[in-house]
Amino acid sequence: MQNLNKLWKIFKEKFTDTGLAKGAFSAPGRVNLIGEHTDYNQGFVLPMAIEKKIIMLGQLRNDRLVQIFDLGYKVKIKFSLDSLAPLKKDTWANYLMGIVDEIQKTGYILQGANIIFRSDIPQKAGLSSSAALEVVTALTMAKLNSLNIEPIEMARLCQKAENNFVGVACGIMDQYISCLGKKNFALFIDCRSNDYDLIPFRNHNYQIVICNSRVQRGLINSEYNKRREQCKKATEFFAHKLGHKIQALRDVTIDEYKKYQRQLPEVIARRARHVISENYRVQTGVQALREGNFSTFGQLMIESHQSLKDDYEVSCTELDLLVDLALKQEGVLGARMTGAGFGGCTVNLIEKNYIGAFKKSIKNEYKKITGIDLDIYVTQPAEGATVLELR
Ligand code: GLA
Repeated sequence: MQNLNKLWKIFKEKFTDTGLAKGAFSAPGRVNLIGEHTDYNQGFVLPMAIEKKIIMLGQLRNDRLVQIFDLGYKVKIKFSLDSLAPLKKDTWANYLMGIVDEIQKTGYILQGANIIFRSDIPQKAGLSSSAALEVVTALTMAKLNSLNIEPIEMARLCQKAENNFVGVACGIMDQYISCLGKKNFALFIDCRSNDYDLIPFRNHNYQIVICNSRVQRGLINSEYNKRREQCKKATEFFAHKLGHKIQALRDVTIDEYKKYQRQLPEVIARRARHVISENYRVQTGVQALREGNFSTFGQLMIESHQSLKDDYEVSCTELDLLVDLALKQEGVLGARMTGAGFGGCTVNLIEKNYIGAFKKSIKNEYKKITGIDLDIYVTQPAEGATVLELR
C-alpha cells in the first residue's frame, strides 16, 4: 500500500484544490472465524478485521458533485447528490452512491466531494471488499461533512446501501466488523442486539491463515437470497409450532429442532439445522477461546465447514479440497470456508511453527489438482475504520 504522501500527490494531479476540508480514511476487509449465515437469522458471528484495507482520500466541494477516481481500475466517475440511480456499467460506483443515498435519506445534509481510493483487498474472494468500500465512503463523507455518525449507525447505513441500492440482501456482519474491528481482537457479535464482546486473538502459538481458492461461482447473490428465503420458511414453521417467542432461527434450541425436524421439508430442515447448530458452535467457540482452548475452537471450525457443505450447501469443490488438504497438514487445528461461499477463501488456524511448511505444501497440492495458483494471506486481527488524517 502506497504511503499517504504519494496518494496525496496523485490526488493533486487529479483534482484542483477547493480549499475546503480534506482527509484520508481507511476501512479493512474481514475474515469470519466462525458463525456463517447466522447474521441474517439474528444469531452470532465471530469475525475479525484483516490487515488488507481500502484507503480513501477526499476533499469537500462547494457544489453537489461527487467525483471519484478508483486507482485500481483507473476509472473516474462523477454523479450529482441530487440524482442518484444505480449504474449498469462501473457497478463498483453503486456502493459509493448507495452510501450517500442512505446518508441523505437519514436526513443528513451532504456537500459534494473529490475522492480517490486504493484497495489491496482481493475482490470477489469473500473478504468483504465491498463492505470496506461502503464503510470507508461513509466515514469519508461523514467526517468531511462534520457529521457525527456512531459506528453502529454507520454499519447499518452501509448494510442498507447494499440492500437497497446494490440489491444484495446481506446481513450486518461485514459492515459491522469493518467499522468496529479492533487490533488483536476478534469480535463476538450478537446480530440481534448488535452488542459485541472483544475476544483476544493474538496468541503467540497460533495464527490465522487465509487461503484464496481464486474461484468464484456465479449465482452467488441468487443462492444467498434463496437461503434467506428458506430460513424464513423454517422460522415461520417453528413460530407456528412454538409461538411468538420464535422471531428468528436464533430462538430455536437444538432440542426443539430435533422434536419437529421430521415435519419440515427435507431441504428446509437441513438449512435450519445448519443455522441452529452454527449458533451453538459460535457460543461454544467463544467460550473455548476465552479459556485459551484453541484445539476445541479448531474442531468447531471443522464441524462448521461440514455443516456448510452438507446442510447449507454453500461450499464448492475447491473450498472442500482446500479444507481437506489443510487438515492433512501438521499443526493445523481447524479449517473452514469463510464468507458467503460458492468460492472465495478458507480460514485456517495453524500453529505458528508449521506455517512455512503449510504454505508450501498446500500451494503445491492445490496447483497439482486444480491447476490454480493459490493465494495465501497471513494476518493478525486489525483495526476497523480509521481516520488517518483530517485537515
Ligand atoms: C456475506 C454477507 C454477510 C453474511 C455472510 C455469511 O458475507 O454479506 O452478511 O451473511 O455472507 O455468513
